[in-house]
Amino acid sequence: MKSIEIAKDIFWVGGIDWSLRNFHGYKTQRGSTYNAYIIIDEKITLIDTVKDYMSDEFLSRLSSVIDPSKIDYVVVNHVEMDHSGAVPHIMELAPNATIVTCASGEKGLREHYKKDWNFNVVKTGDSLSLGKRTLNFVTTPMVHWPDNMVSYMPEEKILFSNDAFGQHLASSERFDDEFPLDIILEEAKKYYANIVFPYGTQASKALDDTQSLEIKMIAPSHGIIWRKNLAAIHDCYDKWAHNRLEKKVVIAYDSMWGSTEKMAKAVYKAFEQKGYKLRIFDLKLTDISDIMTEILDAEYLCVGSPTLNSGIMPNVAAFLTYVQGLAPKNRKGIIFGSYGWAQRNVKVLEEYFEKTKIQIVHSHVVNYIPTEENLLEMQKKIEDVI
Ligand code: FEO
Repeated sequence: MKSIEIAKDIFWVGGIDWSLRNFHGYKTQRGSTYNAYIIIDEKITLIDTVKDYMSDEFLSRLSSVIDPSKIDYVVVNHVEMDHSGAVPHIMELAPNATIVTCASGEKGLREHYKKDWNFNVVKTGDSLSLGKRTLNFVTTPMVHWPDNMVSYMPEEKILFSNDAFGQHLASSERFDDEFPLDIILEEAKKYYANIVFPYGTQASKALDDTQSLEIKMIAPSHGIIWRKNLAAIHDCYDKWAHNRLEKKVVIAYDSMWGSTEKMAKAVYKAFEQKGYKLRIFDLKLTDISDIMTEILDAEYLCVGSPTLNSGIMPNVAAFLTYVQGLAPKNRKGIIFGSYGWAQRNVKVLEEYFEKTKIQIVHSHVVNYIPTEENLLEMQKKIEDVI
């Protein structure tokens, strides 16, 4: 398979995972790529690898550029197995190569693969001369694991950013001027919302730490490489990492016999009256990772469920468990739902919101089927508090 030269003597040699539809719970309708890069210099240097099951494709692209046994350095910017999965294959082919990673990276690689490879442990401010070119390292812990770092090549002004600025997007095109920008940005937003969201403080620090770098190309480890629209993706990360919200509401619900759905529409009308951007989702029909993308910049999250047995609908519980893990900050919320003989729904919903630290501005229940009067009253109450 072919490599792609992204700058003189620097080649993309990754894998394209056209069939990927689920990445640890995140629905990836457009597949993904695992981007690896080989730098041909006095020291032959590989940056990251691919998932284990994509090793053949990766090795085929890599071998089209260089005999893998000639590799001197393997830079591991992140231990998660979508990037380190093929490291054992490379180290078998090039047993004298040195792995360049941060302290958490060395620990993670030893714990994953139980091998006593040669390690060169680096930290922020350290450099590695490859010959004509250099790599400077900045550790970016928790964007997305403790071991994340980015590598910057000042001579070419390329930032190898690993997960940051990536997208789950399979394509034969490699650059942002070759693929529709709206789709790249949509997938970058979804990626941030479902992967980086809990680590906004760390992402914002990583942005600050790399701000002084002059960057002409961002080569992430998933999806498309940025070489034209750098300002656009930087502005998006700046907005997301600083949790800048829009006047926007996300309403998500499941309904048993249609009563909670009627209530969801009353919530919708209240926010419509107040001029909010509106997103409403039936949790039976929409994947939770797509809803997360909309929550990323929304001021309000409103969630509805009827009582089912002694709890709430399982779709709603799964959604709120997912939201709790991704921990959106400074959000306001409304909870609602219908019940028959036990008002368990609101109590369970309240517990989820409290654990997620979403400020509840209104809770609303109705018994069995809401009348038009009930719905109007609910709408007015919500209009009064938002
Ligand atoms: Fe793409 Fe956190 O791995």
